[in-house]
Amino acid sequence: MKFSMKMIVMATAAMFLTTGLAIAGPEKDPLKARVPADKRAAAKKNKSPYGKKSADATPEIIAEGKAIFEGKGTCVNCHGKEGNGQGPAGKVLNPGPRDFTNCKFHKKRKEGEMMWVIKNGSPGTGMVPLIPATISEEEGWKVIAYERSFCKK
Ligand code: HEC
Repeated sequence: MKFSMKMIVMATAAMFLTTGLAIAGPEKDPLKARVPADKRAAAKKNKSPYGKKSADATPEIIAEGKAIFEGKGTCVNCHGKEGNGQGPAGKVLNPGPRDFTNCKFHKKRKEGEMMWVIKNGSPGTGMVPLIPATISEEEGWKVIAYERSFCKK
């Protein structure tokens, strides 16, 4: 009896570990809108001063965005140096951080919607509001230009 209880506890622990590892990390519906329906039209109209694509921004702006992403913005901890959502903290989050190398995401998402999430966060996820506490709105637009640049197509 004592032996089988121990077996059950061990089996449960093993199951928990396997499931935990299997569910941590992956993104949840990256193409699904994050801005609530009643605020989405306004968010989409909020245009970046640096354009829709990173190609519209100057190399200087993208370099500034990179410095913020990897520095004071702390984005790198979750979104990763390669922008693929595999940062050290991002790996253990569920849902996982956005993978900015996914060009389909960038096609689908307006820069104003990205700005909305950086300001308001995505409730129920590790993406907390970072403007104005961590970075300014101006810095946010620069980081968005850099995040766009992870899509190589
Ligand atoms: C603590 C971890 C963490 C940090 C730090 C973090 N993010 Fe995120 N981010 C996430 C997660 C998790 C998601 C996915 C949220 C979801 O699925 O709704 C996300 C999603 C996003 C999105 C996608 C929103 C959308 O429309 O789908 C953007 C843009 C974003 N983050 C920008 C940033 C920027 C810019 C920074 C740094 C200033 C940053 N994040 C820092 C965890 C983080």
